[in-house]
Amino acid sequence: MFGLKTTLKALLCGALILASVSADPTAETPNVELPNVAITADFPNAIAGLTPNLVSGEANKIKVTFKNSGKTDLKVDLIVGSVAEPEDYSQVIRKLTPYRYSTTLKADTTLILPYTINMEQASREVGLTLIADIVDSTKNHFPVLIYNSTVSFSEPMNSWIDLQLIFLYVLIAGIFVAIGMFLKGSFDPEVKKTTKKAPSMTPEEREAALEKMKVLDEDWIPEHHKKSPRVTKRR
Ligand SMILES: *[C@@H]1O[C@H](CO)[C@@H](O)[C@H](O)[C@H]1NC(C)=O
Repeated sequence: MFGLKTTLKALLCGALILASVSADPTAETPNVELPNVAITADFPNAIAGLTPNLVSGEANKIKVTFKNSGKTDLKVDLIVGSVAEPEDYSQVIRKLTPYRYSTTLKADTTLILPYTINMEQASREVGLTLIADIVDSTKNHFPVLIYNSTVSFSEPMNSWIDLQLIFLYVLIAGIFVAIGMFLKGSFDPEVKKTTKKAPSMTPEEREAALEKMKVLDEDWIPEHHKKSPRVTKRR
């Protein structure tokens, strides 16, 4: 951990020195040839010409493309990054998690490596600096700038909408359950009442009810039809 920290510090300092003396970088290391590598960063859902957008608290996967146009193999050791005030990059807000790759970047080839930024940041613009540590065949380390510009952070809108939708579903489900319980509560007692009433009839009551039905039944039957069965019965 200590070793990594010092390496990172050296890298960042190196990058700053490199930037400040960029007029003639070979003056620093006269015997070493600078690696012939071009690096670009692709941000998720980026729109050409607009400031890249990162979502606070989410894994923002950046695609870093390395193009080695030289005649010798190189190695991408690690990528380090920092987020700073957009007006003054020396005012660092946060150092990003470094990623160690130790991947070979063969001569005359292109390599794509992922770099994920996941940090909480209130919606605003910040300065983002990403630096790759490139190692040549003789183990010289070169800090190469991947990205050094503004990015804007935003709140995770989608997840907030998802959360609201879940609440809505729970609410609707609750309403249906309440309606179901209300309907059950208002119908059940009636069903019970009718089923309970029938057996509670005394034999006399039943007789009376049957008699009543008979009377009602016979009301529409013509007189001569009604009397004839009784006559036959009496015989
Ligand atoms: C990155 O950009 C800022 C603002 O343009 C500048 O001040 C800073 O020196 C740059 N850093 C590097 C390492 O080039």
